[in-house]
Amino acid sequence: MRHELRTEHLSLDFLRVCEAAAIAAARTMGQGDRKYSDHVAVEAMREVMDTVPMCGRVVIGEGERDEAPMLYIGEEVGEGASKNSGNHSAEIHDSFPEVDIAVDPLEGTNLCAVGANNAISVLAASERNGLLNAPDIYMDKIVVGPSSRGAIDIDAPVKDNLKAIARKLGRDIEDLAVMVLERPRHQKLIQDIRNAGARIRLLGDGDLSAGISAAVAGTNIHALMGIGGAPEGVLTAAALKCLNGEIQARLVFDQDRLMVDASKVPPKEKVINRLREMGINDPNKIYDTNDLAPGKKIIFAATGVTDGALLRGVRFFGAGKRTHSLVMNTDSRHIRFIDTVHVEGGPDVIIRF
Ligand code: FBP
Repeated sequence: MRHELRTEHLSLDFLRVCEAAAIAAARTMGQGDRKYSDHVAVEAMREVMDTVPMCGRVVIGEGERDEAPMLYIGEEVGEGASKNSGNHSAEIHDSFPEVDIAVDPLEGTNLCAVGANNAISVLAASERNGLLNAPDIYMDKIVVGPSSRGAIDIDAPVKDNLKAIARKLGRDIEDLAVMVLERPRHQKLIQDIRNAGARIRLLGDGDLSAGISAAVAGTNIHALMGIGGAPEGVLTAAALKCLNGEIQARLVFDQDRLMVDASKVPPKEKVINRLREMGINDPNKIYDTNDLAPGKKIIFAATGVTDGALLRGVRFFGAGKRTHSLVMNTDSRHIRFIDTVHVEGGPDVIIRF
């Protein structure tokens, strides 16, 4: 008989998965090779993933099967998947819960490569079809925390959204800090935010960790605005469901709007056909948190690779390492910040507080 998805149990397994990816990536910090950093994070994540008692299916991963050797979309992962391919009976395989998985083993590959803040390893999981199978294209996003839920409208002028957020937070627009990726496509957005009077924190990379931070009071980040990756949008939505925040988003495939070299973005018709194949018939649809992460049982885990607003990076201390993670799910009301010491030395190792 198939076991149901027990979010509390699997949460700690997914913590191990993120910790392994973060440790592997952190070892390469500052080496200037973003692809290598990503590669080691993927390998480490993939290896630990197969020890998780589940029949997992990757819905957001490292790309399509022909372009990614591991953690590709559609790949079966987890103990159930590995047992299915051996001599074990189908009965054992069928006893594991079915889980959909979205991963970003290293979010902020450039950040890790140069040793900058806010690189993280991330995973979200749900029951089958609980996470949107989003294409790897761009997505326009506005993200806020619980206090500003219901006050934003992605189609409203920037100033109106900022006014509404400020009202909900009981402060002036001048007291808001908005995170925006520093990209040519955001020139007008940045100008609009400045004209409205709010403060801005420009990001080199990493709108996923910025989106999560916007939903946690005390980070001094009140919103994330602008265009980033669609897969990061789904992962953000999974985190926001656990944190009671809100995201509104829309896919973007217009080269003029993205201001990127035509060779970097597939032609619009090709994207629209691919979206249709994926079951997305309205390419201009506005997605809310529940559209991106409709699951009833969502698990979210992230481990810091480099230091950030919410999580500390991996620290190596000779006889081991120390990781800092965020693990949460929609079932229990537990938002866990987990500080783990991974001891490698013998009985004389000293553990510090
Ligand atoms: P990677 O981890 O894949 O390098 O992505 C980093 C990131 O900054 C994301 O946080 C963001 O959503 C996306 O890239 C933005 O894409 P682009 O760099 O093409 O503007």
